[in-house]
Amino acid sequence: MKIIRDIDEMHAASRAARMGGLSIGFVPTMGALHEGHLSLVRRARTQATLIVVSIFVNPLQFGPGEDFARYPRNLEADCALLEPEGVEVVFAPTTEQMYPPDANTVVYVEGLSERLDGRSRPGHFRGVSTVVAKLFHIVDPDCAVFGQKDAAQVAVLRRMVRDLNMPIDLVVAPIARDAEGLALSSRNAYLRPEERRQALVLYRALRRVEELAGAGETNSERLRSAALYVLADEPAAGLDYLEIVDPDTLLPVSSVAQGVLVAVAANFGSTRLIDNALLPPR
Ligand code: PAJ
Repeated sequence: MKIIRDIDEMHAASRAARMGGLSIGFVPTMGALHEGHLSLVRRARTQATLIVVSIFVNPLQFGPGEDFARYPRNLEADCALLEPEGVEVVFAPTTEQMYPPDANTVVYVEGLSERLDGRSRPGHFRGVSTVVAKLFHIVDPDCAVFGQKDAAQVAVLRRMVRDLNMPIDLVVAPIARDAEGLALSSRNAYLRPEERRQALVLYRALRRVEELAGAGETNSERLRSAALYVLADEPAAGLDYLEIVDPDTLLPVSSVAQGVLVAVAANFGSTRLIDNALLPPR
């Protein structure tokens, strides 16, 4: 497994792979890797012959007062997880190379970037689309795999790839959960044991919506109320949003008959967690 820190070197490695007839599968991450990330790597392997995983804690997608400084960073531990997966290249650029002081160009997906997490985290998706566009240019992959866990991110990046005609197959992998249903996240490491237990309410609320929708309920407001009722069971959950939206536009829908995204975000102590479910399940 090759660890590349330099952008020109990554460009060259990618060009060489392509000349050698390999197809490139790309998994962008911010490190602090867990089984969820590894499931994306395995998904990438099903359709590409050379896998590149990027590890870069992107300052541009963190707001002031968010957890950029304390975000867990451990390249060695991350590489130890990627090596057994047969990953060929880890791309871990420096912030100085990614953002020279006079970098003035951003990629901004209008509208979508202000919905769901974008509403509570101003500038977040502008940071995500900018860094992912840069990484796509540097790695030049055939396909890139993202997790359904970050459903709004998927909507923003899908639109970016389409609008900017990027010749990249954007693949979405299902949410990896622990045995109790908690969606795996690098931020789970922040949770104290009782907060971790409290956080399971997110999954319970989503399950309740799935159950009711499975039994034939199609009215979004009623489904939303049922989920809020479950969430109210856990007063420690500081709800940010619970919305039933179109998965492509992220706009609220009144009926779930057409296929919708049920998305939730809540704070447990100082940790913000998100989770979601697609109806009907894909
Ligand atoms: P990060 O939070 O490290 O996540 C990297 C990828 O792993 C994302 O596509 C995310 O959706 C996916 N992922 C995280 N937890 C998952 C889970 N439990 N199941 C399935 N997939 C999961 O998302 C980012 O980094 C950044 O915004 C990034 C795209 C790298 C841009 O900086």
